[in-house]
Formats: sequence, structure tokens, C-alpha cells
Amino acid sequence: MCGIVGYAGYREALPILIDSLKRLEYRGYDSAGVAVVEDSVKIVKDKGYIANLESQLPQLRGVVGLAHTRWATHGAPSKDNAHPFYDCREKIALAHNGIIENYAELRDELKAHGHTFRSQTDTEVLVHLVEQSYAGNLEDAIRKALARCTGTYAIAVVHADEPDKLVAARNFSPLIVGLGAEENYVASDVPALLKYTDKVLYVMDREIVVLRPKSVQILDFEGRPVAREPQRITWSLEDAERGGFDHFMLKEIFEQPQAIHNTLLGRMTEVDTNGFFQDVTSVKLVACGTSYHASLVGKYVLEEVAKVPTTVELASEYRYAPTPTEQPLVILLSQSGETADTLGAAREAKRRGCKTLGITNGVGSSLTRETERTMYTRAGLEIGVAATKTFTAQLVALYLVAIRMGLDRGALSPEDANRLRDELRALPRHVQTVLNQADPIADLARAYAGARDMFFIGRGINYPVAMEGALKMKEISYIHAEAYAGGELKHGPLALLTPDTPVVAVTVRDRNYEKMMGNVGEVNARGSPVIAVGTEGGRDLPRFVEHVVYVPKVRDLLYPVPVSVVFQLLAYYAARKRGCPIDKPRNLAKTVTVE
Ligand code: G6P
Repeated sequence: MCGIVGYAGYREALPILIDSLKRLEYRGYDSAGVAVVEDSVKIVKDKGYIANLESQLPQLRGVVGLAHTRWATHGAPSKDNAHPFYDCREKIALAHNGIIENYAELRDELKAHGHTFRSQTDTEVLVHLVEQSYAGNLEDAIRKALARCTGTYAIAVVHADEPDKLVAARNFSPLIVGLGAEENYVASDVPALLKYTDKVLYVMDREIVVLRPKSVQILDFEGRPVAREPQRITWSLEDAERGGFDHFMLKEIFEQPQAIHNTLLGRMTEVDTNGFFQDVTSVKLVACGTSYHASLVGKYVLEEVAKVPTTVELASEYRYAPTPTEQPLVILLSQSGETADTLGAAREAKRRGCKTLGITNGVGSSLTRETERTMYTRAGLEIGVAATKTFTAQLVALYLVAIRMGLDRGALSPEDANRLRDELRALPRHVQTVLNQADPIADLARAYAGARDMFFIGRGINYPVAMEGALKMKEISYIHAEAYAGGELKHGPLALLTPDTPVVAVTVRDRNYEKMMGNVGEVNARGSPVIAVGTEGGRDLPRFVEHVVYVPKVRDLLYPVPVSVVFQLLAYYAARKRGCPIDKPRNLAKTVTVE
């Protein structure tokens, strides 16, 4: 949610800032802006994509600067509300990711002191606070300014009077430093830096970074130096490129066999120690968005494999719910490991005295520090805003957790565990079988891309898969799509079915097959076309439905993986037919670092 980059080196900052900012565009694209220090601080900014900003850039030769891509929270997407912001005298430029919660009172106070505001954002108070506190040292002024603020932030700031310096700070919003040779960088996330360095420092909460071409200093909020060892990033630049695919989303869909394979290889090393799950009597899965849907699938998996009672809650709800007396193991799922609500939920779980486990794709992300143990999905970098390979990798991680927990709790025999592991190892092959049908799935998606509404139905473990299918469809194609448990259609949604309302049904050969076919019959009776996802070899389906996409036969518990790949492809090709900006759906962002 908003991306920040900063540079202090010996090369012209502008092209580096724009190039690295583009790799953070998945974090927001309502507006973009850049500030470069020359004799004075120059800001260029505008509404819209970074490409729009790029088309109007003058030549700026400064070697220190910062840039920002925005996902609007306070103040509409507009040029005035775009970052960076100037102070009154246009000596300081500041960009921010997060929310300053007490901005209204600070704004009144600053106005009373004569400061002039030019935007409707919460952020602008920061730059005026820094201006007010400035007495010749930027980091000191920032420290004083931040002491007045409550909320979440990662900021980057430059000052015309200290032209070789960029100062950044963090509280709850992600920030990393990239180390180069006589040039250094800051960024909200790793992809921004891949082209320039693989050596990074993770900035922690309540820390300030002073970046110069030849030095990086980390200070705490009291101004004391902090020592930090650099870490190596293993992702490569190739991971951040589309590699011949038209969209990141399609590339990432096709990377799933490898992503699943890698997640399986990672195994449970992180949680495999000391019988972590031995004393677990109940589990609560907590997450947002697509990770929440993975959690809903996880409930079925944990209850069946590990025989442990499991509940699922949205992170934004869990954080503020009343504290119950029971203390489940809380498993927090987050692709990015930076979602504000999920991090807040992790803190709340600890406050309630619960054991915590984080499952994330974000190596070194904040979630890894907020939970007792971390398990990584090894899906590789995901850039498309719609989560795809990280969703199936999360499912695989949950299968592995369930196996370990089942063994630790004595609920699963080693033989059954091995059998399930063998079947998991076949998943990449099964997913490839689905991917091989991309062309017919694309035809189907195109045929129904004109629909205004769609329904997705499933039962049991495939109900949350239907929810994920509907989410994918609505977020990238803008077709209104809703998911229902098969048995619930008759309690309302049937009223909406017409011959123009396609219904996508999960009718795989699992324990719910007969019941699902009953629901398909109800849909048929209303004349709506049915797109069924069935099991290979089932010959009767075409007699009842307009279209069938087949997935390989797997045990009931594993169907969510191949079925969700069908749904991803349907959504992708429908969105493509409709000419939607697939990797950057309107109003969305990949990493939501505000509540
Ligand atoms: C945003 C993204 C979704 C994602 C959700 C949770 O809304 O657009 O794709 O599922 O955040 O993100 P997380 O990184 O915590 O899984």
C-alpha cells in the first residue's frame, strides 16, 4: 500500500528512482511522484500510473532523491494529494506509506503556527512538523516530528540544506535498505532493489536510517546507533520480470507447479522442531483476502488430518473481538507478511497469551518477527495484485502443517502421513495437467466475459475455493461474482438466476458430488448456463451441464489446488477479453499496510 524508494549515490538519481519505483507499482497506482535534490529540491508528481509521471519528467541531474507510488487513503487520488510533499519553503520533500492517525489535530496546530497546507492528506502534517523542528540536522528534526505522531509510517525525506543525505524512518510500515558500492537505497520492498543489489538491511519499527552515498547509519528513536548485519536476497531480477508472458498474473499462474514443488521441498524445517504442536488443543487461522480463503480451506484440512478443532477469523475482525478464555494456537497467513491487519492480529494473539505461527511468502517480513515460529511458502516473488501461486503454496503449507500436527498429536499414523506426502508430491503434475488446458479454458472465459453477474458454488472444502474463484473473477475482470455453498442457493440467490447468469460449479467426484449435482439441477431448472469443474474420467457430467473443465482425480482434501487453478485461468482470460488492467486492478493494491 504505497511504495517508497530512495537513492543516495554518485549516479543521477532520477532514472534509478523511476525504474525501482515501477517495481513497486503493485503497492498502489493512484498517483506517483519524485523528488530530486539539486540546488533546490525539485518535485514532479501527478495522478495516475508511473508511466504518466515518466512521460513528463524534466532532466534532473541530482544524485540524491526519493519517489512514491500511492494507494489513496486520506484524500482522493489527485495531483495535489500525490507524494512527495513540500514544506512551506519548499526546502524539504517527504513521501510516506501508512496513516498518521492524529493528523487532524496536528494540522490545526500547524495551521495556527502559520503553515500552509496544499493537500487533503494525513501525510502533509509530517513535512510541516519536520520543517518546524528543523535546526540544521534532518534526522534530529524527523525524530522530534515523529514523537508527535501516532499511527503507521515508513517515510523518506530530503532537505535542500543537506543535499548528500536522505533520511528514512519506520513504524509498522515496511522499509528496507539496499547496500551498493558508494551508493545506497531505501525501498518499501525487495523487488525495487533487485536490479541494483542483493545486500539488504531490514529496518525495524521505531528506527531511523541516515543514507549517504558512502554510509548508512541506523538510529533508534532516541538517536542511539543500532548495529545491523546485512542479509542476502535470493530472488533474482528475472523473478521481477514478465519473462515473455503478457501479464505477471499469467506468469505466476504458470509458475505454480514449481512453486508447489519448492514449498514442499521447504518442508517443515521451521516448525518441525521440539514437537511445537504437541500440546495444541485447538487452532485459529487468521488472515485477510485470498489468505483468508486459504485459511478457510485449512480448517477442513486441520480438522480432518490433525483432528484438531479449528476456527477461522478475518484479521481485521479478530484484532478487535472480545478475548475468549481459550488459548488456541493462532496461525497467521499472509503472502506479503506485511498486511497491517494481520500484523495487528499477531500482536493481539500474543497479548492473549496464544502460541503463534506465521505462514508467509515474505522472507524477512514483519510477520516473521511478530510470530513465535515462521513457515515460509517458497512460491517466489509474486507481483500481480491478484494472488495466485502464493494461494496454492499456502494450501500446500497448510497440508504440511496438518501432517506435522497430526503426527505430533498422535492423530495421524506415520504410514498415513507418508501416503499423504506422496500425494502432495504429485500435485505439481496435476496442476500442470490443468495448465495444459489453458486454451479451452480461455475459450470458455471469453464466451462468458460479457456477463454482468456470475455465481460460484461448491460444497465442503470446495466452498472456500468457490469464494476464491469469485474473488479472482471480481477483482480482475470487474464482473460481479458471488460464491455460495451449493446448499444455500435455494435460500436466496436462486432469485437472481437468469439465462444470462453463468454459474460455475465445483462438481468433482468427492463425497459431496451427488449433493452438488442436485444443486446443479436447481440451476438448470432456471435456465442458467453451468460451467462445471469435474473429475477426469467422469462421463456423465456433460449430460447435465453446458461446459466441463476436468481436473485430475485426487483425494477429496486435495481438490482445492487443481480447482483453484481452473478458476484463476477463467478469471484471467475473462479479464483479458474485457480489456482490464490485469496486474493492477482499479482501487486495489497487493500489500495493504494500513488498517
Ligand atoms: C490485498 C491483496 C490480496 C491479498 C490480501 C492479503 O488485498 O490485493 O491479494 O490476498 O491483501 O494479503 P497478504 O499479503 O496478507 O496475504
